[in-house]
Amino acid sequence: MKFAVFASGHGSNLQAIIDAVKAGTITGELALVVSNNRKAPALKRAQDAGIKTLFLNPQDYATPTSYDRQLTIHLKQEQIDFIVLAGYMRLVSAFFVKTYARKILNIHPSLLPSFKGLDGIKDAFTYGAKVTGATVHFVDEKMDHGPIILQDAIKIAESDTIETLTEKIHKIEHRIYPKAIQLFVEGRLTMKGRRVEIVEKP
Ligand code: GAR
Repeated sequence: MKFAVFASGHGSNLQAIIDAVKAGTITGELALVVSNNRKAPALKRAQDAGIKTLFLNPQDYATPTSYDRQLTIHLKQEQIDFIVLAGYMRLVSAFFVKTYARKILNIHPSLLPSFKGLDGIKDAFTYGAKVTGATVHFVDEKMDHGPIILQDAIKIAESDTIETLTEKIHKIEHRIYPKAIQLFVEGRLTMKGRRVEIVEKP
């Protein structure tokens, strides 16, 4: 199974995925890394790992749908089976969600449905939540909304700062995202309504 990772920034989740592919704990082929940000360190990480990259400039497209149509052309060319969003700070269009229905995974740094949006870690911290975490989910038409695949939680300690909490959440992300991707590759995720069930290994 071939997959593409979409990333806009630092790319620490991308790195965890690259490492898992190298280690054989993800058995899918990471064939393409896509970014909407020419300067994303994620692109450099991909290049260093010898993975093909694609930068598409949103400013060259009149609408999010036309951007995503162009993306789809590239994805078809590369015979990509599924998409992994890893810090991709751009909403995918309804067209894209339909084209890759139940084939787009996302990670979000909070326990969804709490603290959706761009700043899940800071929002949970400043709200005064006592517990937070990270969520891997399928992408649907609404932001940070689709069926949940895996979550893990941690307590927010009184001694925590946004920085220490961010570090802890990233550690969770780097553990659960490769795991969720491998479950998808193995075809072990089934849906009952919006409940995702994990099928035992035969
Ligand atoms: C991650 O914490 C990811 O959960 C978050 O962006 C960060 C990217 O870090 N995504 C979102 O907030 C999506 N709503 P990375 O570039 O180091 O992987």
